[in-house]
Formats: sequence, structure tokens, C-alpha cells
Amino acid sequence: MLASKRILLIIGGGIAAFKSLDLIRRLRERGAEVTPVLTRAGEEFVTPLSVSALAGKRVFRDLFDLTDEAEMGHIELSRSADLVVVAPATADLMAKMAQGHADDLASTLLLATDTPVMVAPAMNVRMWEHPATQRNIATLKADGIAFAGPNEGDMACGEHGPGRMAEPLEIVTAVDAALASGPLAGKRILVTSGPTHEPIDPVRYIANRSSGSQGTAIARALNSLGAEVVFVTGPADVPPPQGVETVPVETAQQMLEAVQAALPVDAAIFAAAVADWRVASASTSKMKKTKGGLPSLEFAENPDILATVSQLDHGRPGLVVGFAAETDDVVENATAKRKRKGCDWIVANDVSHGTGIMGGKENDITLITENGAEDWPRMSKDDVANRLAERIAQSLI
Ligand code: CTP
Repeated sequence: MLASKRILLIIGGGIAAFKSLDLIRRLRERGAEVTPVLTRAGEEFVTPLSVSALAGKRVFRDLFDLTDEAEMGHIELSRSADLVVVAPATADLMAKMAQGHADDLASTLLLATDTPVMVAPAMNVRMWEHPATQRNIATLKADGIAFAGPNEGDMACGEHGPGRMAEPLEIVTAVDAALASGPLAGKRILVTSGPTHEPIDPVRYIANRSSGSQGTAIARALNSLGAEVVFVTGPADVPPPQGVETVPVETAQQMLEAVQAALPVDAAIFAAAVADWRVASASTSKMKKTKGGLPSLEFAENPDILATVSQLDHGRPGLVVGFAAETDDVVENATAKRKRKGCDWIVANDVSHGTGIMGGKENDITLITENGAEDWPRMSKDDVANRLAERIAQSLI
């Protein structure tokens, strides 16, 4: 989705600047054109040569570089992009932005630009939490500056907390969303996908035959209509789609936590084949054969993620879509499931042995909404995904 998009990348002076080299590579891999700007402090961490080699372009460094002014003035440079990305955005650079300083090339470009700006902050946790920085963040947000991160974690300085720059792929996802166009641009949509694995012991688990292909196709289709997609997936056979934020999980419990962490969203699509039960007390060491007889497993019920989200009093997504994998009385069972779980739509399919749907390439759908049941002709899972994404777009407009 980044093909031929122009990114003006301002690299500030922080240890995280080394990640910006990878960011350039990731953006270019996706077809974006990256024009790099390196601050004086940034040059202490990465060299102009490595930046320009990765960008495949000269790097802009100095406001008073007359050659630059002859070729392209700083005003023009600031406006020659679809998005200005500041990564790493240091506390100092953000303070300059909030105050409107223009005393070097980076701050001048940021003051002169008329294109959207995104910052990926990176700083020590105390600096991030300082009231002055928090004031600047509030000012920048009020000015319409988008934020990618920061993350929480261990820092180069040895401390722990918020302030770590977002990973390059997370920034790419944020850039993708910021530049998205299409009927779902500006909408954040959650998709669950794949099976869950419920451990019996450290080497054995209970799973199901879901390949994750329908959920993956739906996430891709929503993303291609411009949605920012959070993709929470169990261990699937197919790779996750590119350009979406992927949260890998194993168990139903982990899936619920990842889903709750992803809220609020505009819509949530629950395509995962979640195990209904887990082993009540999974063994922490490998179970061994004994002469005493066969082991017995006791089960506990897993949380119902779809029902939990559908029945939220606060922060319920505007549209909640569940799936129903049935083998008998598909429409009756799915209609009852829609009521019982409290979701808006159910995508029902017949997974009886012989239909070839579970793990296959095609799907045979009945869409259950408040208006009743609607049969779709048998089609590829990609076509189901595209048609469903279009319907979701219509209902969110
Ligand atoms: N689901 C969920 N959490 C669970 C179980 C299911 O979120 N613990 C979601 C699935 O992602 C799917 C929908 O619920 O969207 C239907 O799941 P299904 O397994 O078909 O329904 P069950 O709740 O198991 O009902 P039944 O056993 O009666 O078929």
C-alpha cells in the first residue's frame, strides 16, 4: 500500500537512530520513496553515508547548504512528501516542534511543512514522563501530529518503562494507516484468526483443524480498503498479511487478553476457531507413561471472547461479527448463536466432513444479520473476504 508514497524521514539524535536504518529498508521494500534528513545529533549515531546508501538518495543535513537551496529549497523539501516521519523523535526535537522553533534544517522543515507529520518518540523513561514532555505531547497531539509508540521496555540506558522507540515494522504499520485511502481509511478493525493451542504439558497440546486462511484473507481485504487492522492470531498454517499489526498468541486466554488490549476498535471480526475448553491443570513437566494406567484429562471452559466483547457495556465496537462453524442445521444454529452471544452478524458455514471447507480454499457462507439469513454462492476464501470487507465498509460509513 506504500507504493510510490513519498516519505520525508527526519532522523533525530538518539540511540534508536540505528533502527531508522531498518525503517528506511522496510519502507522502501514496500515501494515507498524515502528522502532522509539527518540532524546534527543524529549524525552522532548513524553516518550520512549509511543513511543515503539505504535510502538510495542523498541525505539532507544542513539548513545553510547552498547547493540544497539551489536544487530544492527547504520549503519545497518540506512539502515534497506525502508524510513527514520523525524517527527517532527526541524530547528536544518534540519540544522544538511544540514551540515552533526553526533553528536547524529538521525543525525548519517541520515548521514549514503542510503535509501530515508522524513522530516515533524515543527517550529515557524519566524524560518521557516529565511534565514538560507531557505538555509538549499534548500540544503536538492537539496540533494533529500522529504518534507511533513509544513502547514500554528495557532501554539502552538500563532503565525500564515507556520511551523505547516503536519497532520499524510497527512504524511502517502506522505509516500505512496514516496514508491509507479507501472506504475504511481511519477505521481501526480487529480480526481474530487461526486455531488456539491449549497445552496438556510442555510438549503436547489440544488444537483444531483451522488453517487461519479465512481470517487472514479478511484482514488483508480490510487493510486493502484502508482500515488499520489489528490481527490477533493463533498458530496458523498461513503467514499473516503484510501491513497489519500482528499479535501472535497460543491459547484462548492469551487471545482474550490481546483482544482486550486492542480495544477500542470500530469493528471486530472473530474468525478464530477458539478452543472451547482447556486442560484444567496443564502439567508443567512432560507427562510420562506409567504402569498405573492411562492418564485422564480434566477440562475447564475457556472464556468466550466473542460473547465477552459483544456484551461490553462500555467500548463495544460498533460492529461485532462472529463465525459459526456448524455441521447440522446451519441457519438455525447460527441464528441462535447470534442471539446467544450478542453479536451483530454471524458468518455461518457448514464444516461437515466432505464440504472441504475446514482447511480448504473455498467457503460456502450464510450471512446472518438482523434482517435474516442471506446465502452466498460457494466462492474462494479471498472472494468471501472481499465481499465481507465491502459489507463492513458499507455498514461503518
Ligand atoms: N469464539 C470465541 N471464543 C470462544 C469460542 C468461540 O470468541 N471461546 C468465537 C469464534 O471466534 C466464532 C464464534 O465464537 O466467531 C463461534 O464459535 P463456535 O465455536 O462455532 O461456537 P461455540 O461457542 O463453540 O458454540 P457451539 O459449541 O454451540 O457450536
